Amino acid sequence: MSINKINVDLAERQYDIFVGGGVLSGASDKILPLLKRKRIAIIADENAYKFHGDKLISSLESQGVEIKTIITKSGEGTKSFSSFENVIEELLEFGIERSDIIIAFGGGVVGDLTGFVAGVVNRGVDFVQIPTTLLSQVDSSVGGKTAINARAGKNLVGIFWQPKLVLADTSVLDTLDRRDIMAGFAEIFKIGLILYPQFFDYVEENAAKILDENGQARQYAIEKSIEAKAKVVAEDEREAGVRALLNLGHTFGHAIEAAVNYDETKWRHGEAVACGIAMAARYSKRIGALAADKCERIENFIRDCGYRYLIKGDKTFDANAMLKVMSHDKKNSGGKINLVLLKDIGNAYVHKNADVADLLEFLKEECS
Ligand SMILES: NC(=O)c1ccc[n+]([C@@H]2O[C@H](COP(=O)([O-])OP(=O)(O)OC[C@H]3O[C@@H](n4cnc5c(N)ncnc54)[C@H](O)[C@@H]3O)[C@@H](O)[C@H]2O)c1
Ligand SMILES: [Zn+2]
Repeated sequence: MSINKINVDLAERQYDIFVGGGVLSGASDKILPLLKRKRIAIIADENAYKFHGDKLISSLESQGVEIKTIITKSGEGTKSFSSFENVIEELLEFGIERSDIIIAFGGGVVGDLTGFVAGVVNRGVDFVQIPTTLLSQVDSSVGGKTAINARAGKNLVGIFWQPKLVLADTSVLDTLDRRDIMAGFAEIFKIGLILYPQFFDYVEENAAKILDENGQARQYAIEKSIEAKAKVVAEDEREAGVRALLNLGHTFGHAIEAAVNYDETKWRHGEAVACGIAMAARYSKRIGALAADKCERIENFIRDCGYRYLIKGDKTFDANAMLKVMSHDKKNSGGKINLVLLKDIGNAYVHKNADVADLLEFLKEECS
């Protein structure tokens, strides 16, 4: 399969994303020009490293680069103050300098942690994203949002710090769990629902191929999602406008994740987003923004892909608790709840200052 290049056009902070099968074996060609000296630190997810680390290491070693590898444990627990501290201390011990490069090798967890670390160690060093999950390739590695989690909630401590380069090798997706493919796919069809109706038609028609085969359809879906995100980020890096639409399904989704204490064995982020999108569609219909047949089409699609699209009857969920989480969302301002809703397939908008009493009523119906 071919390798394509997508640019994130952020003036002096612009960078390229290389996407396709086999990108990793040529990693050193892309990374070496960024190095001031032949020394590099890699923060690697344990599973990504176990399955695919050798390709990256041998590509860099063949060019005589000295490598320091810091392996992190799989899972959301790694986005913590303690691993942040450990990684920083190890980097400083390695003698990381301002002009060095750090590589994030793994999924969104490692990407978010490494980006934050890179942004603050020595007051900021450059970094390269090598995303190894579907979600991180289409979403978290693009756009420069970095974060770790705090007791009060997820992603509350971080900075905007753009990478210098992103290498998305689609062949590494072969070793992912089915559930992680599903989780990533939610962020793919989300893009269609927000902005690109024809892309939604495409993913709807080709869902089985995208989910089951590492072939042309998946490659196309990944590229199109990256292109779309790159465009949104270039227009609105700091989420003052259009970038907020990428949160479709996320406010409801976070309430789902919080209800299970972010236990990924119960709900992966992307699975919660898929169900959250179904909820956003139903709420859009309820307030008269979205036609009933469009809502049904979205719900059927999410169900047919194999996601949960309803939380009815599940004792885990409580409407009041969900509303509380939703009212603490970072996207809110002035104590008001803002929601990304749909007017149509391919047409999302920010619904400001939602009617809280009505939202609670809706959540009670969803949970009952
Ligand atoms: N910064 C952003 O803009 C942004 C956007 C979306 C999500 N996120 C964050 O991303 C995180 C989720 O990312 P994720 O879904 O990639 O999860 P993840 O990083 O936890 O990876 C999922 C699982 O896949 C394993 N893994 C990684 N690569 C593998 C491979 N090639 N083969 C086999 N196993 C592999 C990991 O060990 C882990 O168990 C969340 O913390 C979320 O907050 C950030
Ligand atoms: Zn997401």
